[in-house]
Amino acid sequence: MLHKDIETALNKQIEREGFASAQYLAMASWAESKGFEGTAQFLYRQSDEERMHMLKLFHYVNDAGGYAVSPGVASPRIEFSSFPELFELILEQEKGVSEKINELVELSFDKKDHTTHNFLQWYVAEQLEEEALFRSILDKLKIIGDNGGALYMFDKDLQKEAGKNIESPI
Ligand code: FEO
Repeated sequence: MLHKDIETALNKQIEREGFASAQYLAMASWAESKGFEGTAQFLYRQSDEERMHMLKLFHYVNDAGGYAVSPGVASPRIEFSSFPELFELILEQEKGVSEKINELVELSFDKKDHTTHNFLQWYVAEQLEEEALFRSILDKLKIIGDNGGALYMFDKDLQKEAGKNIESPI
């Protein structure tokens, strides 16, 4: 049986992953409306990934004897001024998620809940990967600056990234 505090904290995380999925979806739409197909595909894929992160937590809560709550979704931001701004926002969002995952890991440790502690290690590794990916994208955007041709290539690169297989966690 899950400790009530852990169940509440995991349900909070379900809500955050649901919001992240909605935010990526809004970003995908923005990129698509600007004609950046590759970036849009990449962001649609990110949105799918976040939904999977949400579902993995969701199933875990119920499997562990808790009660998973389907979250309401707050409205994501839908307007962005530039690609660097959009990707900065993503990195901040991912850093925020990492912080919350770390808090969850600490909580599971405090409550001596080894199963949840073990379960959360997947998220720790995933966040490390995501933060690294978005730092590298922001580095590329710094180099690109206002170069339209380079931005075109950047969009193509993200299309390739979107085509990579995603590991299904559920
Ligand atoms: Fe599931 Fe990118 O946080």
